[in-house]
Amino acid sequence: MKGIILAGGTGSRLFPNTIAVSKQLLPVYDKPLVYYPLSVLMLAEIREILIISTEADLPHYQKLLGDGSQWGISLRYAVQTAPRGLADAFLVGEKFIGSDSVCLVLGDNVFYGQNLSLLLQNAKKSVENGGAVIFGCMVKDPREFGVVEFDEQNKVLSIEEKPVCPKSSYAVPGLYIYDNQVIGIARKVTPSARGEIEITAVNNEYLDRGQLTVTLMGRGISWLDTGSPKGMHKASGFVKTVQEMQGFYIACIEEIAWRKGFISTEQLHQLGEQLAMTDYGKYILSIAEEGIK
Ligand code: G1P
Repeated sequence: MKGIILAGGTGSRLFPNTIAVSKQLLPVYDKPLVYYPLSVLMLAEIREILIISTEADLPHYQKLLGDGSQWGISLRYAVQTAPRGLADAFLVGEKFIGSDSVCLVLGDNVFYGQNLSLLLQNAKKSVENGGAVIFGCMVKDPREFGVVEFDEQNKVLSIEEKPVCPKSSYAVPGLYIYDNQVIGIARKVTPSARGEIEITAVNNEYLDRGQLTVTLMGRGISWLDTGSPKGMHKASGFVKTVQEMQGFYIACIEEIAWRKGFISTEQLHQLGEQLAMTDYGKYILSIAEEGIK
């Protein structure tokens, strides 16, 4: 399975923060926002990843993340020439996906929770046998999201994009896993009123084909919104609190690469040394030393 991180867009809801800097490069506490979705793909053990952004922003992602070999993964890059919608990621990434299945994660979505790795592994296994898996998260105000409609037996009836009157409190987060049909489906989607080829249209097509699974993320998993300055601030506060209280880091790419066996303890140590002037680097060094013991 391949992975795609979509990190395009103008970030207009965060202006002036994002006039000169791509939103997904802004910090969420102690690391750039894009580290969080990257960590999700790595937890799913997806090691071939395409990063899609604008022509102007792509060089900054390349500077930050390189070719991924330092973390035992392969990172490639592609330009999205205009913000044509989330489903456009499968057209921009068509060659990269080839005949594989694919997991798309939005570059501004933050997930955290103990069972995340297991949840992702299960979803991945299911899609490797065909179809699509998306997720549902309970939110207070679902109007800004794709929203799942269920019948009395909890069967999914539809997914609605930004409904004025949401039919449930379950929003669809920016994490989608599809088999190879997604390329053909995305190609046939007609642009919505906001001029985008919507991921929701792709999900509804899988639903019509009887091949859509919606897995609910329970209370154990946090999905954090970074759509506004307030959301960014809250996400930073959340990461800081968890890290300080538990001593574990959220979205420490180096740690995940090591725990998943993508890099050796020696490589982990070297990565920690490069960042030894920060608490982030010291954390990496401390777990590398634990590994040496
Ligand atoms: C997009 C999707 C929406 C989804 C959301 C998750 O919204 O269209 O269905 O719930 O991402 O972050 P957008 O960020 O384009 O408003």
